[in-house]
Order: sequence, then structure tokens, then C-alpha cells
Amino acid sequence: MEKIKVAIIGATGAVGQVFMWMLSNHKWFEIEYITATAARTGEKYGKSVHWVLPFEMAEVLKGIELKEYNLEAMKEAGVQIVFSAMPAEVARVAEPELRDAGFYVFSNAGAMRYEKNVPILIPEVNLDSLHLINEQGYPEGGFIVTNANCSTTGLAIALSPLVKFGIKEISVSTYQSVSGAGYPGLSSFDITDNVIPFIGGEEEKIEKEINKILSITPDVYAYCARVPVMFGHIETVWVDFDQDVSIEDIIEAWDTFIIDESGLPSSPVKPVIYDADNTFPQPKYAFWGKPRGMVTYTGRLKKKKHRIGFTLMVNNVVKGAAGGSIQNAEAFVQMYNHR
Ligand SMILES: NC(=O)c1ccc[n+]([C@@H]2O[C@H](COP(=O)([O-])OP(=O)(O)OC[C@H]3O[C@@H](n4cnc5c(N)ncnc54)[C@H](OP(=O)(O)O)[C@@H]3O)[C@@H](O)[C@H]2O)c1
Repeated sequence: MEKIKVAIIGATGAVGQVFMWMLSNHKWFEIEYITATAARTGEKYGKSVHWVLPFEMAEVLKGIELKEYNLEAMKEAGVQIVFSAMPAEVARVAEPELRDAGFYVFSNAGAMRYEKNVPILIPEVNLDSLHLINEQGYPEGGFIVTNANCSTTGLAIALSPLVKFGIKEISVSTYQSVSGAGYPGLSSFDITDNVIPFIGGEEEKIEKEINKILSITPDVYAYCARVPVMFGHIETVWVDFDQDVSIEDIIEAWDTFIIDESGLPSSPVKPVIYDADNTFPQPKYAFWGKPRGMVTYTGRLKKKKHRIGFTLMVNNVVKGAAGGSIQNAEAFVQMYNHR
């Protein structure tokens, strides 16, 4: 198959860098056009970016030129799919324009997530929601598909195989890494040796998005904190179910949550991996798994009265952001046989 040409808007940010890494050698997609703020136009990626990922930049990325954000030029270059890693306030204007220009937009920004006909897609959880692109005008025109907020992503994946038990109430506390605030993000004065018990808008996003993604209406209570960790969000979760659920039921539900190996290049075969070790999971494992950073890890499972508690760890910049978007684009290509 000829590779589909893609653009990355916001290629120099924390999420943009993960796009560049994951797309540097992708089976179906090739990087054709990248942009950041206008001041970088004409610069070579390797020289311009402040690379924050915990492994080397691929050689092929270093010489790619950052281009002007120009829809005509992107069209002329043959770009079909646009990966958006822009700040939400920029995305709010830019993404509908991209859609109107006929591009297939896969976005990390929160701006369009709550529009009625815009899916918040996690392929292993709610693949059906992809049909909403037809309501946006596909195949005649473009569309926007978003992925969830990074903390919501991990929570939705861990809860997805448990929905069958009837989820009544969810209490979640997050311990979110600094990369979640982008680059340069927080001042080191504020976060070194410290925990900040508030992340603006985050708790509301979890409460809203979990319902849209899982198509359920439990009461959701969230607290979000920023911790001095580079990558990977930890979440502690308590769930109240309609029926009596045992620890063994939960482990079995996670263990049998398996995605067909012939599926999407970026889908993990087992989206959730549980380990009973009391020290598991930790943000140290953020880039573990196959594909790297795409697995949600769970542990610390316990039952108290009728409630089930557990801890999870999701890589916020990979599964919770760029990796999730790439997987969404792959799901579109496969489901609509788009070549
Ligand atoms: N970080 C995460 O864990 C995470 C997870 C899920 C979703 N998200 C969402 O993903 C998006 C990107 O997040 P991030 O963490 O990568 O942020 P970031 O590190 O601040 O990167 C933002 C990117 O957008 C570019 N940009 C900024 N203002 C722009 C403008 N006016 N026009 C064009 N480009 C502009 C920046 O270019 P310069 O480098 O030139 O400034 C940079 O490439 C945000 O909407 C965020 O909420 C982030």
C-alpha cells in the first residue's frame, strides 16, 4: 500500500514529539508536512526542537523542515490526514477550518471533544463512535476525531471490560506527570519537591468524558494532582457496581480483554495488563509494553464492602495523546478501507 501523507501541527511540543517518533517509521503513514509557531518556519526539526523524550531522535527526523501553517500548501503537498497537537485555544479555530478544507483531523486538543457529532475515540473501547464522521460530512468532506484527555484515556480503558458489571459510581484521584502540562510547562520552582493538588479543568474533563466514551452515566468524583514525575500518570480508583463483583471477576475481565493481533499497527494485543505485585504499577514503566507506551497497567486490586479499588498507570503522551491519535487514524483507514 502507498503510504498516506500526514501533517503534524504542533510538532515541537511534548505531544508533537511523540507523533514524530511514532510516525518516523510507520507502516501506513508518512510525515509530509510539519508546523509549529511561525517563528520556527524554515528551521530543521533536529536543530529547532527541544527533544524531551527519553530516547534518541531518529536520524530521519532531523532534516525535516518546519513549514508555514498554510492549508493550500498542505493540500498541494498531498496531505490527507492532519494530526493536531495544538493548544486548545488555537485548535478551537484551526480544527474546524481544517475540517472544512477537507482534511481528516485527528486531534489531541480538548476544544472539539464535546461537540455532538465529534467522537472521543479509543478504538479498543468505542470503535462504533467513529461512524459520527459521516455526520460531519465524510466521505464528501473532512472530519475531526478527538482522543480523550490523558487521564480519562487510562481510566476508560481499565473500566471498559468492567462495564458489563454495571458501573454505578467512580471515584478517582490522579497523580499526573509534568509532561502532561506540555513543554516548557510548569516552572521548576513550582513543581520540584512538591505536589500541586489542582489541574485546571482536568477533573471536569474526566467526569464528562468517561460518560461519552463508555456510554454510561455513573456518578464520577475526581481529584487531580500534579506530581514531580516526567512521564506517566498514576490513578487510584474506587468503583461501585450494580452487582457483587469479586477480585477474580475483575482480573478475568482484564485478562480476557484482547485485541485481534491482525488489527491496528499501534494497538496493543492486551490493552490492560494487571500485576498483583504491591509495588505495581509505577510511572517508571511509562514506556514499557508493545507498542511502547500503549499499554495501561493496573495493580493494587482490592475489595472493601461492595467496592472494588485499583491503581492504574497510563503513558499520558503516548496512549493518552499522540499514540492514541495515531491508533484512531489507523482505525479510520481500516474501517473505511481508506487508501
Ligand atoms: N501533554 C500531554 O500529556 C497531553 C495529553 C493529551 C492531550 N494533550 C493536548 O495536546 C495538545 C498539545 O499538548 P502539548 O503538551 O504537546 O503542548 P506543548 O508542549 O505546549 O506544545 C504545543 C505545540 O503547539 C505549537 N503552538 C503553540 N501555539 C501555537 C500557535 N498559536 N499556532 C501554531 N502552533 C502553536 C507549539 O509550537 P512551539 O514549540 O513553536 O511553541 C508546540 O509545537 C494540547 O491541546 C494539550 O491539551 C496533551
